[in-house]
Amino acid sequence: QPGWWREAVIYQVYPRSFADSNGDGMGDLEGIRSRLPYLKELGVDAVWLSPFYASPQADAGYDVADYRAIDPMFGTLHDADAVIREAHALDLRIIVDLVPNHCSDQHEWFKQALREGPGTPLRERFHFRPGRGAGGEEPPNDWESIFGGPAWTRVPDGEWYLHLFAPEQPDFNWEHPAVQDEFRSILRFWLDLGADGFRIDVAHGLVKAPGLPDLGRDEQLKLLGNQVLPFFDQDGVHEIYRSWRLVLDEYAGDRIGVAEAWTPSADRTAMYLRPDELHQAFNFHYLNTDWDAEALRGAIDDSLDSMRPVGAPTTWVLSNHDVVRHRTRFGSLERARAAALLMLALPGSAYVYQGEELGLPEVTDLPDEVRQDPSFFKANGQDGLRDGCRVPIPWSGEEAPYGFGTGGSWLPQPAEWAGLSVAAQTGDPASTLELYRAALRIRRAHPALGAGDGVEWLPAPEGVLAFRRGDFVCTANTTDVPVRLPAPGTALLSSTDLAEPDLLPADSTVWWQG
Ligand code: GLC
Repeated sequence: QPGWWREAVIYQVYPRSFADSNGDGMGDLEGIRSRLPYLKELGVDAVWLSPFYASPQADAGYDVADYRAIDPMFGTLHDADAVIREAHALDLRIIVDLVPNHCSDQHEWFKQALREGPGTPLRERFHFRPGRGAGGEEPPNDWESIFGGPAWTRVPDGEWYLHLFAPEQPDFNWEHPAVQDEFRSILRFWLDLGADGFRIDVAHGLVKAPGLPDLGRDEQLKLLGNQVLPFFDQDGVHEIYRSWRLVLDEYAGDRIGVAEAWTPSADRTAMYLRPDELHQAFNFHYLNTDWDAEALRGAIDDSLDSMRPVGAPTTWVLSNHDVVRHRTRFGSLERARAAALLMLALPGSAYVYQGEELGLPEVTDLPDEVRQDPSFFKANGQDGLRDGCRVPIPWSGEEAPYGFGTGGSWLPQPAEWAGLSVAAQTGDPASTLELYRAALRIRRAHPALGAGDGVEWLPAPEGVLAFRRGDFVCTANTTDVPVRLPAPGTALLSSTDLAEPDLLPADSTVWWQG
């Protein structure tokens, strides 16, 4: 059935690192507005903006102090309105990031809860508990924060509050009707402003198991392990998304919800996408797959098979602001380019993280003094700080900050990035930027690349993936040697130069008309 989002290519903008209009070294909304034509030309359908709300920035804006206000470092509500209006004029949709699991410790409700003390009504909107042990010196349970350390912090009056992330990010109590009402109202606020949808942060975390039971000492926090955790993916969470769906559907124009849900399996993720819940969920199972034909094929089949029964599109994600950039994860630019063409050939919706279209690598040698990530992030099978994938985008020029702005950049960009800038790559047919542009152009024009929820696998040598979708064929050689395969048609696009049509280059993906 129709729905713009079913096959959409959605581009993630990380506002502080995209484009800086006022020379303070931090990206902002006006910078984003001025670069919308670039995104249009790239050929994406929608733009997801990571948080720009009023925030003390303890977790780069994922700690929201006011869900209806813009942080001055990013601009004003007027600027947000301008981004949405200009995007719409270019036929680009805007998805805003909603952070419902927790707020900032500077949110009015939390400040009031702290002031008013134990037993007062505002405390019930969070998870406040007395401690255990003599004098309540021990946290109420043994849960660990995703950022390391106990998931509880003690306040001066002796109570403890729960935070699955940083201590500056107190978790809301989603059993409380005031919390539920407030978020429906926040949804309406942004829908009224024209937002086309929401990316829902930690969508799987809102509901906690009754009684907040201990995890058990020896259990490791592996978010993608196949374990059931008392603070993630609880069945009660689905009731919330059903009520949000009713709000989304009150609005014309196909407004959507995208779940950031780490669950033990693709089938559990599909539950968020039942027809009366959300529209998409990030495919972290795919993101965590290595550049290996067999593993990729398994992940592709598993993803498609899980989504088909609920009628939701699969999504494909290679990079985002929380994980090591895929060029670095996969070990080379060739593989990154091949992985991109493979992703863009699959049915469903694809996410592109800013800078991956330039082939940017993770910056691994940032000095400690410049890093801002609060702590180790123990999700998605990685353990580490996330600054290296958040380095500001190089737009042009020979000197840092390479057109990012006029006043430096909050994280230093490597000198080699002059050669990776948008200006340096534009018009160079061998560049990664032109590869993405060409791929998105073909994807748009080619009917077989649109519809559908499956692929037809073709026989292929070991290490090679080959599938058909109508008159379109995709082959991906994940090995580091060229592989002979009779050309399945006429080559449309190749991630590495095709010297001979029936010799697939090492680490390459080729699109064929056949
Ligand atoms: C999500 C965000 C991540 C943030 C965390 C806490 O995983 O993507 O950046 O730190 O939620 O809000």
